[in-house]
Amino acid sequence: MSYYVTTPIYYVNAEPHLGHAYTAIAADILARHMRERGEDVFFLTGTDEHGEPVAQAAEKLGIDPRELADRNAPRFKELMPKINASNDFFIRTTDPEHEAKVQEIVQRVHDNGHVYEGVYEGWYCPRCADFKTESELGEGNTCPIHKIKLDREREENWFFRLSTFQEPLERLYADRPDFVSPGPRRNEALSFIRQGLEDVSLSRPKLTWGVPVPWDPGQVIYVWFDALLNYVTALSYARPGEDLTERFWPAFHIIGKDILKFHTIYWPAFLIAAGYEVPRRLFVHGFLLMEGHKMSKSLGNVLDPFEVIERFGADALRFYCLREVSFGQDGSVSAAGFESRYETELANDWGNLASRTLAMVERYRDGVVPEGEPDPELGRGDDGLDGVEGRVAELLDRAELTQALEEIWTRVRRLNRYVEETRPWDLAKQEAAESPLDAGARLDQVLYSLCEGVRVLALLLGAYMPETSDRLLDALGEPARRLAPFGSRGGGQAIEKLPPLFPKIETATA
Ligand code: MSP
Repeated sequence: MSYYVTTPIYYVNAEPHLGHAYTAIAADILARHMRERGEDVFFLTGTDEHGEPVAQAAEKLGIDPRELADRNAPRFKELMPKINASNDFFIRTTDPEHEAKVQEIVQRVHDNGHVYEGVYEGWYCPRCADFKTESELGEGNTCPIHKIKLDREREENWFFRLSTFQEPLERLYADRPDFVSPGPRRNEALSFIRQGLEDVSLSRPKLTWGVPVPWDPGQVIYVWFDALLNYVTALSYARPGEDLTERFWPAFHIIGKDILKFHTIYWPAFLIAAGYEVPRRLFVHGFLLMEGHKMSKSLGNVLDPFEVIERFGADALRFYCLREVSFGQDGSVSAAGFESRYETELANDWGNLASRTLAMVERYRDGVVPEGEPDPELGRGDDGLDGVEGRVAELLDRAELTQALEEIWTRVRRLNRYVEETRPWDLAKQEAAESPLDAGARLDQVLYSLCEGVRVLALLLGAYMPETSDRLLDALGEPARRLAPFGSRGGGQAIEKLPPLFPKIETATA
């Protein structure tokens, strides 16, 4: 089956921070997991370069918007390999192919009768690139998100007949209860629809930084439509000479809650208007907070992902983001929280389990994983290894990234307990002494089961922490990167030495 997953495309008016890395990490975990399941995967990310937010930021710096875009887009592009994101393409909305395709699709929407010319008057936030309704306004006519004072704007522009999609959207939501998740976000979208939809601007007359409206080149296409269309246009030119649209569309979109309205309402309506299938699903995540506030450049409370990665590695950052904050909800992150999870969970729970297992195979079995039967004791129960891959897959089908990680971690703990309970070092002593046969066979079983358990968990964790899982699987003599159940791999493979996966690091709070 094909699986197409996307991140929002990032505004180039600021430099990347952890909030941006977060959506990319989440989408990457899904992409990697689906590849391990053997799906045909396409993972897209990129930058949103037109419109008012970028034009204004450039003006402040006294440079051309294109120069600002060219300066900052590479920062986002470079972020991807740094956080181990395995995106198949990186789109920039200033790509000429994107621009041409946007014009083609917008023209089609126009020709299909969904566009008209009209006058708009309303409160406009240039940072959101969006008009606000009276009820959304903060005190003193301010933007509820950016807290800046808004101007009332009146302009003639082209409109998209969003109002005519009220009923089709209600039907879509009724027919597909999992179209938007988690549930509270779906309800939010639905109640927005039920309040009644108004037509929306499709163009901006006063702006020059954008894609010209094909039938009225004095105006540019409203940046949100230009941006949303990236999900479709990218498939038409990501592979030269090949159009991937048939193969991959519709997409699974991962988005933050601040851009819900555009993705869950405007976007499906626009797709229907243009004659495309609506997205397969959307998952809406919450915000990473620092000291109780959304991490954002304008508030100045950002954690620099480059710095964290420099010290702790990308895997630790990826793990922390999904472990600390329940995916779908808001949650606080902090340097101290990060360091403590690194120490207790990554270094102690997982890193130690891996190195102990390998060290015991080395010491007691000359570095060869013994042949054996998986210990049924370790397979069964709610925290057993039997069927864990199915449980995780089911959760990841719904993008429940934190719950899936918890399922895995429960087994990491279970394996640690298993070591304490079976005491392989005592079995080794007994083997050398009075009852060699029984103790020897039991030790074979325990070591085999541990290696199998670690293998299954390393594969499942590979989506979250690809670098360390790769190293561990290599050390275990396991070439395959496909999920396979506990006990499905025989023994006999030679293991290799493995330096600590999560070495001790001098921390600020230690
Ligand atoms: N350019 C638009 C998206 C267009 S998609 C067709 C945009 N860009 S953004 O750079 O402002 O945000 C990109 C993503 O980063 C959004 O999903 C947003 O929710 C996410 N985050 C930015 N700060 C965040 C946090 N502090 N925490 C979690 N994610 C947040 O919106």
